[in-house]
Amino acid sequence: MAQSSDPWLQRYGVAAPVDVTPQLEQLLQHRSIRQYLERAVSDDSLLRAVAAAQSASTSSNLQLWSVLAIRDPERKLALARLAGNQRHVRDAPLLLAWVADVSRLRRMGERQQAATEGSEYLEAFVLASVDAALAAQNAAVSLESEGLGLVYIGGMRNQPEEAARLLNLPEGAMVLFGMCVGYPDPASEAAIKPRLSPEVVLHRETYSTAGEAEGIAEYQRRAESFQQGQGRHTPPWSQQCVERMADGTTLTGRDRLKAALRALGFALR
Ligand SMILES: Cc1cc2nc3c(=O)[nH]c(=O)nc-3n(C[C@H](O)[C@H](O)[C@H](O)COP(=O)(O)O)c2cc1C
Repeated sequence: MAQSSDPWLQRYGVAAPVDVTPQLEQLLQHRSIRQYLERAVSDDSLLRAVAAAQSASTSSNLQLWSVLAIRDPERKLALARLAGNQRHVRDAPLLLAWVADVSRLRRMGERQQAATEGSEYLEAFVLASVDAALAAQNAAVSLESEGLGLVYIGGMRNQPEEAARLLNLPEGAMVLFGMCVGYPDPASEAAIKPRLSPEVVLHRETYSTAGEAEGIAEYQRRAESFQQGQGRHTPPWSQQCVERMADGTTLTGRDRLKAALRALGFALR
């Protein structure tokens, strides 16, 4: 089914009730891209993405994240296998690995012969993860602004120790997620995926579940018609969500994340 050219309409199924700025227009255009042309992603694009990433806010200006740019086919293949054999990880001309990184801070402490015990707390891992996610999304916006496409790869957390070994990460560094980057293959044009309507996720002043079930049902109808338009027939969205989080076995190896983090130098005190 052909999609309309109004990205708000595609996202929410209704015309925009507000003015849409050029920046919002670009954000609304986001869709994950999993098929790429063979064209390389330039180092200039990479550097622009890193500058965008570093321009995100960062807790206490600690900058507790790193990013690895991977182009080597063998290394991408090995990482694709770790991430559940995801073809696009192998095929993307550029793979970015976004890393929660307290190791740099610890090295700074060692050079100053000062304690960095705070980095052993769960808080440091959460802080680094939040900062890395903000940075990555700024990079995503930069990449998309120049016509590149991308998809995040949470599958990089399936086997965190092995991912760390392949990338030679020091203790205190862990790949949070990957990001496959490349020029979208126009032969497999991806569509803008609908989301819950804003009223479902926006609470004013205090949390309220009023209207939630109706909002989810309304979204489910739009999601179903989107999937049908893509030639797919999937279970209702809320059923998929619940099944994805049914128990530890549905977490594709990530049920042991705490143990993996401890092995990688995050004590999570
Ligand atoms: C942190 C994160 C991890 C993700 N992991 C994967 C992944 O491992 N494989 C994949 O194909 N897509 C992955 N995605 C993409 C989501 O499936 C996608 O964003 C979602 O279905 C919404 O689709 P859209 O991005 O096209 O709007 C991930 C997204 C995020 C934010």
